[in-house]
Amino acid sequence: MAFFTATYSAVGLVALVSYVLWKAIANLTSPIRSLPGPLSAKLSSKWLLTKDLAGSKATTVHALHQKYGPVVQLSPNEISFSSIESIKDIYGQGTKCIKSPAYDNFGRRGLFQIQDPEEHRQRAKRVSHIFSQASLLNMEPLVQEQISLLISSIEKNSGKQFDALHWLRMTALDVSGEVLLGKSFEALKGNEPPPYIHHLDNAYLVWSLEGLAPWLCKVLSFLPIKGLQEFMGSGNYVYGYGEDAMREYIRHYGREPKRRDLLTKLIAGNPKENIKPLTDAEISVEVSNLIFAATDTTGNTMTYMVYQLCCHPKWQAKVREEIRNSAAKSSNFSFESVQSLPIVNAIIHETLRFNPVVPSGLPRITPPQGCKIGGMFIPGKTIVSAQALTTQRNPDFFPNPDSFNPQRWLSTNGGTPQMKDSMLVWGKGTRTCLGQNMALMELKIMLARVMDKYAVRIRSEKTHGDMLMTDHFTLIPKGQKCELVFEIAN
Ligand code: HEM
Repeated sequence: MAFFTATYSAVGLVALVSYVLWKAIANLTSPIRSLPGPLSAKLSSKWLLTKDLAGSKATTVHALHQKYGPVVQLSPNEISFSSIESIKDIYGQGTKCIKSPAYDNFGRRGLFQIQDPEEHRQRAKRVSHIFSQASLLNMEPLVQEQISLLISSIEKNSGKQFDALHWLRMTALDVSGEVLLGKSFEALKGNEPPPYIHHLDNAYLVWSLEGLAPWLCKVLSFLPIKGLQEFMGSGNYVYGYGEDAMREYIRHYGREPKRRDLLTKLIAGNPKENIKPLTDAEISVEVSNLIFAATDTTGNTMTYMVYQLCCHPKWQAKVREEIRNSAAKSSNFSFESVQSLPIVNAIIHETLRFNPVVPSGLPRITPPQGCKIGGMFIPGKTIVSAQALTTQRNPDFFPNPDSFNPQRWLSTNGGTPQMKDSMLVWGKGTRTCLGQNMALMELKIMLARVMDKYAVRIRSEKTHGDMLMTDHFTLIPKGQKCELVFEIAN
């Protein structure tokens, strides 16, 4: 018996080693093998995956570009680029590259996940009208209300330790609830995050795990362990919440566009342009996806912005002076009164450049016949990307790229063409962020209202360590908190 067990084990081991060797040799014969890059990346795609799981994908890829130059092989079938020409080829209008199958792992299929360009165009037509300038201005009071609640929390904790990451995430979540579901999550009214946010966080983990080991997820979801079942069902909770909220909304308010939020417009469609609404099932997926797209991106950007102002008190004083010398206060900090303030804009641009909330590459796949990227022929079905963390720190266009300096945007009147072409934080081309104007409205109103009233500083040196960047698609502060102290400003 022992003999057979040992023989089977040895045969199994030999088979496994042979498979790994065969796979590594096959990978080394990949048509992109001659590109610069580390040997570990050429041997297996698992190397990059481990960096991704550890939250260090963007910083690792950035270091590789600094070592190897503008083109780097990231895995046997994946390349990262950093030149402006390649950004245009991968993401620009008319590109032949489409979103890679990796997007299938991001929850349920809606506008964000759709890969086929024609299907995406049709879906975008039926969603994008809700983000028109008129529709955003109409919802401004909903944003102002949530910022008032944020300011009440700051007031209650004035002079004390204040976890800005928690409260600014809750602000973004409550704005999303008001605007996309017609009801706030009331996260700013309590001290604990609502259950929704717990499921939202877990859903990201489950989706990453599904991408990595789908078979393991299948096994785990069958195990009769309550906590595990709840964890594996996080995505279902989030989509279920969106669906219930939408049904309740329709029961309450009907289908006519009478309210300020954006859900009312999604339900009604755009009759003026002859655009029919999506089905209820499609709407409920879209609103849930929009809450994903809106919450951590906006909340974490607000957090890094306030943190950078603590690190650069000179800019804090400058922006306060600009706000106080403007018509903002006498206009109750209306969006109109703050949207064009140069220092406010420069600080937001610089935060988005320095701490891009989607820092790593947005993966695209080349067409089956291959295509040219950055002047180089790339074979078909290769995964290609450029990442914001690298393109936005290109020293040719951003001198002293590793220092936070809003002045660079002021002295170039909002950025040179190369600076603008290098900014990838909102994505580019037909798949660019649809919620950009909504996010900018939140960022500008929050910055103006909070900085007018409060001076802010870090609580202790530990905050710097907590704010180191890690990324799991979105940028997340390493310590998962940002402890600051707000005090009434002179
Ligand atoms: C600071 C805040 C934000 C940043 C930096 C940001 C960034 C991005 C990026 C980089 C993409 C492209 C993803 C890709 O190509 O894979 C994207 C897509 C998208 N974002 Fe945002 N986002 C922000 C806030 C928002 C908000 C507030 C909303 C809506 C409520 C939103 C809705 C969307 C949608 C719908 C897409 C998909 C567009 C498409 O594929 O057609 N985002 N965002």
